[in-house]
Amino acid sequence: MSEQEHGPEQTESLTDRSETFDVILRQRLSRRAFLKGSAAAALPVLLAACGEEATSPPPPPPPPTAPAAPPTPMATSVPIPTTPPAATNPPAATNTPAATNTPEPAAVGAFEPIQPRPTTEDALAVPAGYTTTVLLRWGDPLTADAPDFAVDAQTADAQSKQFGYNCDMVAFFPLPIGSNASDHGVLAVNHEYTNPELMFRDFNPDAGPTQEQVDIQLAAHGVSFVEIQRGADGTWTYVRESPYNRRITATTQIEVTGPAAGHPLLETGDDFAAQSVLGTLNNCAGGWTPWGTYCTAEENFHQYFANLDTVTDEALRAMHERYGLPAGVSQYQWEKFYRRFDLAQVPNEPNRFGWVVEIDPYTAGSAPKKRTALGRFRHEAVTFVVAPDNRVVVYSGDDERFEYVYKFVTEGTFTPGNREANMSLLDAGTLYVARFDNDGTGVWMPLVFGEGPLTAENGFESQADVVIKTRLAADALGATRMDRPEDMETNPVNKKVYLMLTNNTRREEGDTNGANPRANNETGHVIELTEAGDDPSATTFTWEIFLICGNPSDESTYFAGYDKTRVSPISCPDNCTFDNHGNLWIATDGQAGTIGYNDALHMIPVEGPERGHVQQFFSSVAGSETCGPLFTSDNTSLFVAVQHPGEGGNFAEPVSTWPDGTVPPRPSVVVIQKEGGLPIV
Ligand code: FEO
Ligand code: CA
Ligand code: CA
Repeated sequence: MSEQEHGPEQTESLTDRSETFDVILRQRLSRRAFLKGSAAAALPVLLAACGEEATSPPPPPPPPTAPAAPPTPMATSVPIPTTPPAATNPPAATNTPAATNTPEPAAVGAFEPIQPRPTTEDALAVPAGYTTTVLLRWGDPLTADAPDFAVDAQTADAQSKQFGYNCDMVAFFPLPIGSNASDHGVLAVNHEYTNPELMFRDFNPDAGPTQEQVDIQLAAHGVSFVEIQRGADGTWTYVRESPYNRRITATTQIEVTGPAAGHPLLETGDDFAAQSVLGTLNNCAGGWTPWGTYCTAEENFHQYFANLDTVTDEALRAMHERYGLPAGVSQYQWEKFYRRFDLAQVPNEPNRFGWVVEIDPYTAGSAPKKRTALGRFRHEAVTFVVAPDNRVVVYSGDDERFEYVYKFVTEGTFTPGNREANMSLLDAGTLYVARFDNDGTGVWMPLVFGEGPLTAENGFESQADVVIKTRLAADALGATRMDRPEDMETNPVNKKVYLMLTNNTRREEGDTNGANPRANNETGHVIELTEAGDDPSATTFTWEIFLICGNPSDESTYFAGYDKTRVSPISCPDNCTFDNHGNLWIATDGQAGTIGYNDALHMIPVEGPERGHVQQFFSSVAGSETCGPLFTSDNTSLFVAVQHPGEGGNFAEPVSTWPDGTVPPRPSVVVIQKEGGLPIV
């Protein structure tokens, strides 16, 4: 969803507001851009433009152009691996980079950037020399007893054995376990939410869903695990009756672990022990652990709960308000049939969502676990990296306007090769929230009960209280209010951390800060963060603005100082990944409503003379967003999830018939390959 519901405003963080915009920008624009001299021209433009009204429609863009010169080797200030990431433990695309000091030129100029596509275009687009194949569609049968998809014969039982709706995050777990395979594995895919107006021929938005439609939607949420393989001819297929195939849905039994397990705020009439939750909701992005488990992030859980105005407990009501729960009817109206979605009947149920859920894809029937030590908020991304001392660091954002950026550092250490020993690492550690100071430094502030303001007199009685009320704890510490933190990932080549800030149209002049420098930030930006000593467990960092997104003809944009006449338009950065050269790949969610193009996937070098050169690689279809970009470890296959094709239309009046030319459109995972089986770049 490109524009999230908005929770109540919170107390202003006073640390952010003291400096003027131009001072901030002069301090925080890419230092390397200044060294190159290009920012000397860019800066005055930025300063002038950011004072303008941002309500005028964006002017038409220049077409992106191919590099004028032959491919330029990337600067060799960082080691470039010549091999895929280290084959330590699964999965293949681990954030732990291979240890090599042999530089290799990045593949800049490997493809001709494609033109951005109009929002009516209902076909995928990739550069010449590349192919797209639809691998998994909504409704594809995943078990021996699952029926084939039939739009007019949908049942909850069938959906619970079929690929779910609205695919988002994608992760790859190599087979056999412990290998670094690029041709065989278990694909994990999140199913974030449902579009009943597109799923059901007879959906009536005025009357709301029928119980059958609710039950199907419950089964269409969650996660799919699917065994996939690449044949000798290079074609990917899924293994329909694999024992690895599994669905997790909004009704799967899930254990609660960590500090909040058993806490009274998680108790309900159906679970007095507060240790077992029915299902996971709004599974947006996620990540994979170095020990080969999958972590899925529960994002906009507030959309599923109704009737906050009936909650009489003042503290509980205030907390629910802080998390944006609606006063009356919910967006999905599941409360019509299930009391747990009605706050009048089960006021604690929302406290059981907004967590990170860890699932073992290699062990059939293993219990998914809500890992409460990582905090409760609208989790976007759960990305892992191992610190030099083998503690494990997890980054996650809270995707709402003016919310925060978090990381978690485990107490215990990762033991390579001993999977069992790592299986409870996420239950103990320190959760931090970020403060971005205007001088380009930053601090990870610990959210620890008893420290600073996190005491009983401020409403925190235990660490369980701190993690259940994570947003309130972060408010108390004066964390920096960001422009909707989305994906946040460590570049395995240069070790820097890239933070996608998708947009924030409610940030006003005078409310900007160094890390969120643009008022009415319709098109989002990207921050490049360097942990002190390149140690991800560090408690301080430095940061700089990497991109200020938009149509390059919009003067408020900035591309790390790169020549604006040569970049592709980019808006609303959401998910990201890296290729083996360390280039950043950004998938977008919201280009259609902001710069007037279908959502896309862009490649951006982060080092050398091409740093900041945004090059569009992929265009998605009408009404969809681009999700889940992920390379196999050999870089020859790139998975992309096409989420909510046709959103904006409905069953009777479709705006998309992708992928099969039929109604309804079907959210699907696509594989992109280069002809000849060569690396993508
Ligand atoms: Fe579900 Fe933050 O995108
Ligand atoms: Ca999204
Ligand atoms: Ca997302």
